[in-house]
Amino acid sequence: MIHPYYSYRSLFPTLSTHLHLASCSQSALAEPISKAIEEYHNSLLSCGNNWNEAMKKVEETRKKFAEFIGAEPDEVAVLSSVSAAISAIATSLPYHQEKNKVLLSDIDFPTVGHIWLAQEPFKDNMSFIHSSNGIIHLEQYEKEVTNHTLLTSIPHVNYYNGFKQNLRAIADIIHRKGSLLFVDAYQSTGHIPINVKEMDIDILVTGTRKYMSGIPGVAFLYVKKELAGQLKPRVTGWLGQEKASAFDIHHPVFAAGTRRFERGTPSFISVYAAYEALKLLLEIDICNIELYLKELAQFTLDYGQEKGLHIIGPLSTENKTSLTSFYVENASKVEGLLREKNILVSARKDVIRIAPHFYNTKDEIQYTIKELAGLINGN
Ligand SMILES: Cc1ncc(COP(=O)(O)O)c(C=O)c1O
Repeated sequence: MIHPYYSYRSLFPTLSTHLHLASCSQSALAEPISKAIEEYHNSLLSCGNNWNEAMKKVEETRKKFAEFIGAEPDEVAVLSSVSAAISAIATSLPYHQEKNKVLLSDIDFPTVGHIWLAQEPFKDNMSFIHSSNGIIHLEQYEKEVTNHTLLTSIPHVNYYNGFKQNLRAIADIIHRKGSLLFVDAYQSTGHIPINVKEMDIDILVTGTRKYMSGIPGVAFLYVKKELAGQLKPRVTGWLGQEKASAFDIHHPVFAAGTRRFERGTPSFISVYAAYEALKLLLEIDICNIELYLKELAQFTLDYGQEKGLHIIGPLSTENKTSLTSFYVENASKVEGLLREKNILVSARKDVIRIAPHFYNTKDEIQYTIKELAGLINGN
C-alpha cells in the first residue's frame, strides 16, 4: 500500500517515538501547529498585551473554518468546547406547545444527553432513537421523527465504533417533517469532507482536538444564517453583542448571525493552533485523506479478524470511518499496557479504538493489532 502522505510524517515529532493511533481522542501534534502555539506565547513575551493581534487571528480562524465546511464566516461562532456549543443551542431554542420534541440517539456522545436532560421544559419532551449494534438505520428516522419534532440531534460518526451516518439522506427525511438537523461532527471533521450546504445541515458542532489536529480549547458552532437570526441566546456575553466595543452595560443587542453565540475571551493559544491546523488540512485536502483512510480501515478490519479479534460495529468501510473498535473486557487497563510500549490507542467502556489519521501507516496498524491480540489472546 502506497502511503501518499509519507513526507508529512517528519512534521510530527511523536511519530518517531510512538505509534499514534488515537486521533479519535487527540491527534499527533504537527510542527507548524506547535510553532503557532509558540508564536502566541512569544507575542505575549515580546509585546505584553496582544489583544488586537489575537482577535484578528480569531477572525481569520472563523473564516478558515467556514471555508472548511462550505459556510459563510458569519454563520460560525468560535467557542471553547463542543459541550459549550451544544449548550448554546439547547438554551436558545424556543419552546412551542405544538413543536417541542427533541430527538436524540443513544449513539450520541453522552454530553449531548446530559445537556438536553438539564433543560426545562425540553427534558420532558425528549426521546432517544435506539441503535442496534451501534448502528441506526434510515427507516428509524422515518418512524421516529414526527411533525412535533423541533430538533433531531445526531452524531455524524459514532464515537464508540466508527459507524458513519448518511447526513444528506437523514436531512431529507427529517426536513420533510419540519425538524431541524443538529449534527455533532466532532468524530468526522478533519478526515471526512463536510459541506453544510450540500448536506443541508441546520446546525453543526465540532472541536479541534481530535482529527482536526489542534489542541483543546476551541470548538466551532455553525448555525445557518436564516436560523441564527431568529435565536435569542440565554447564555451570552459581551463578545456575542453587535458592538462589544461600545461597552454599554444597559442595552445589549445580539450580533448578527451565529457570532451571537460567542461569550467571553476565547482561548487565544488554542485559536492560534486551530488556524494552523485548518491550514494544514486544507492544503492536504480532506477528500484525499478520506480515500487513504478507507484503505487503512479495510486493512484494520481484515487484519483484526485474521488475528481473532472481535470487532464491535460495522464491518464495511461503506458505513464506517477509519476508527475500528475491538472488544476488550478490561479496555482501560489494556490501553495503559499498550501505552507502556509507546502505542497510543483509546479505550471506551469495553472497547479499544484504533483511530488512524493521514500520517499513519499500515505497518503501524499491523504492529498495534499484533500487540493487542497478544495481550488479549496471548498470541
Ligand atoms: C462526538 C463527541 N462529541 C462531543 C464530545 C465532547 O467534546 P467537549 O469535551 O469539547 O465538550 C466528544 C469528546 O470526546 C465527542 O467524541
